[in-house]
Amino acid sequence: MNTVSLINVSKQIGDNTIIPSFSLDIQSSEFISLLGPSGCGKTTLIRMIAGLDNPTAGKIIIGNNTVFDSAMNLFFPPEKRNLGMVFQNYALWPHMTVFENIAFPLKCHHVPKDEIGPRCHEILKLVHLAEMATRKPGELSGGQQQRVALARALVYRPQVLLLDEPLSNLDANLRVEMCNLLAEIKKHSPITMVYVTHDQTEAVRLSDRIVILNKGKIEQIGTARELTNSPANDFVKSFLKH
Ligand SMILES: Nc1ncnc2c1ncn2[C@@H]1O[C@H](COP(=O)(O)OP(=O)(O)O)[C@@H](O)[C@H]1O
Ligand SMILES: [Mg+2]
Repeated sequence: MNTVSLINVSKQIGDNTIIPSFSLDIQSSEFISLLGPSGCGKTTLIRMIAGLDNPTAGKIIIGNNTVFDSAMNLFFPPEKRNLGMVFQNYALWPHMTVFENIAFPLKCHHVPKDEIGPRCHEILKLVHLAEMATRKPGELSGGQQQRVALARALVYRPQVLLLDEPLSNLDANLRVEMCNLLAEIKKHSPITMVYVTHDQTEAVRLSDRIVILNKGKIEQIGTARELTNSPANDFVKSFLKH
């Protein structure tokens, strides 16, 4: 079963074709990485899945819902797509405590008050931040802030988690730590994860399948082993070497 399908999705900005015509089926509970060099269209693709950006044409299906269809003039806003999102720049609310940041999506979805506390504490434990609930983001390290962002994305139990280069602002040690945490979440939760990165080590470590992108087009899709052992072309070969 697929959770996310992109069907002939394209993106044009002015005279520039950023994404020519893109189709991809992402399976339920799959961890899929979009891997490619800077400027190849990864962020554009993930923003279109999120509903933060509109394709010029095409169709996007998430779960049982068609969330975008240019032919039908159909558009679901991000909050109607049952997704969590984590970006490279944390994007936490600085005036709220860690607990309040995480409780916010639950309040927005009108989760009953007596459920909010237990769910926030459960998710804080999962990201190893149980002790930090009353701090403000400014009182946390970069790695801790990114874990708050992850907790905030997961707390509503979305069907799909979108991650756009979530480790790129962290130093090497924290990157490994966060990578381990994502692997742990993947193991224990049925969530579908779409992970954008230009770093092949992260992609290889975490992914069920990797999509190699170049100039908005798919060069090859496969497991890390398939891509390494039988690269479809020189681009895939050279990209995986770096
Ligand atoms: N708002 C915009 N206006 C014009 N060009 C853009 C805009 N956003 C992105 N682009 C271009 O689209 C291409 C893909 O960008 P992006 O999706 O951010 O790539 P990536 O995330 O893979 O680095 C780049 O060439 C970028 O310059
Ligand atoms: Mg990007």
